[in-house]
Amino acid sequence: MGSLILVAGARPNFVKIAPILHALKRRSSLRPTLVHTDQHYDHAMSGVFFEQLGIAEPDVHLHVGSGTHGAQTARIMLAFEEHLLGLRESPRGVVVVGDVNSTLACALVAAKLHIPVAHVEAGLRSFDRSMPEEINRIATDAISDLLLVSEPAGMANLQAEGVAPERVRYCGNVMIDTLVEQLPAARALDMPRRFAVSQHGYAVVTLHRAANVDEPPRLRALLLLIEKLARRMPVVFPVHPRTRARMGELAPSDAIRFTEPLGYREFLGLVDGAALVLSDSGGIQEETTFLGIPCLTLRTSTERPITVSRGTNVLAGNDLDRAWQHVEGMVSAGRRMTSVEGWDGRAAERVVDALIERWGR
Ligand code: UD1
Repeated sequence: MGSLILVAGARPNFVKIAPILHALKRRSSLRPTLVHTDQHYDHAMSGVFFEQLGIAEPDVHLHVGSGTHGAQTARIMLAFEEHLLGLRESPRGVVVVGDVNSTLACALVAAKLHIPVAHVEAGLRSFDRSMPEEINRIATDAISDLLLVSEPAGMANLQAEGVAPERVRYCGNVMIDTLVEQLPAARALDMPRRFAVSQHGYAVVTLHRAANVDEPPRLRALLLLIEKLARRMPVVFPVHPRTRARMGELAPSDAIRFTEPLGYREFLGLVDGAALVLSDSGGIQEETTFLGIPCLTLRTSTERPITVSRGTNVLAGNDLDRAWQHVEGMVSAGRRMTSVEGWDGRAAERVVDALIERWGR
């Protein structure tokens, strides 16, 4: 049986690889090996996801940790190359997911060793190259053999870039597979009660993107917006370590319920009960669209335009006073159930179909 390497490094990756690993194990023509780069290494950012999503202990840890983009990417490349060169038998392929530094670094190493690469969540484009993730997406797609697409815009973008159609396959959204599987357990936690807020009567906030948290004036302006919201309804804000480090000098507001990063189920349960979500995340735009919850995305662009056209997601842009004007309307509009092709809990099966077709025989 041929082997396949799956790479995961940062929090959103774990949510994406879990259903792919489960689907690979249900079929038996490719044996998966899991490599964790340790881009995220804290229990709250990594271990708890493995526990809750039923992912076995990784076969290999690369122990790269944090650093500047160049240093982190280079360390991942050195360690992953050493791992691949040490294997007795070359894998049939390497599967990378999403758009983090681990995604690009491992795709680059594999491609240079002539090992075929599959990219899950290919084709997404924010058209904003100041985002490190946009560079990761473009470069990873350019060197991947198999481009597995999660939303319709991904197909259009790859076609516009002239990618040969035989490299591309629409599979749908593996993150939604995990959501569908975990939602009953998440609801059973009754997270609103844990935070002493009423169902559909509070907002959830997350913030971690460099463009929002690395410049004190922008971070301060966003915190003022969140305080304004907290005067309108209770706000629960699980704080990413990058943001926690930057918030040090800023006086925290009493009105906002700050908390440590939450586990997957706890966070999903909290979002599921919310009236509104404010976030700069990629995946949360999709999760709120699937759940029909209004989401104000604290960015100027999105690589996931289906979330906007379905009407659940609004881009805040740079003018936060204007963004505030959306809030009341979004809250009173309430939930809006929609559907997206392939966001059905079975995307990982289609990913595995594509992998087996290519490498499983
Ligand atoms: C990374 C991804 C981003 C993704 C996010 C999800 C890239 C370029 N960025 O951003 O796309 O949305 O993950 O969280 O890959 N830290 C800890 N403990 C950890 C991990 C990080 O304390 O387990 C702190 C460190 O101070 C580190 C900082 O967080 O320097 C940033 O971590 P890093 O992996 O560089 O990027 P993220 O901001 O998490």
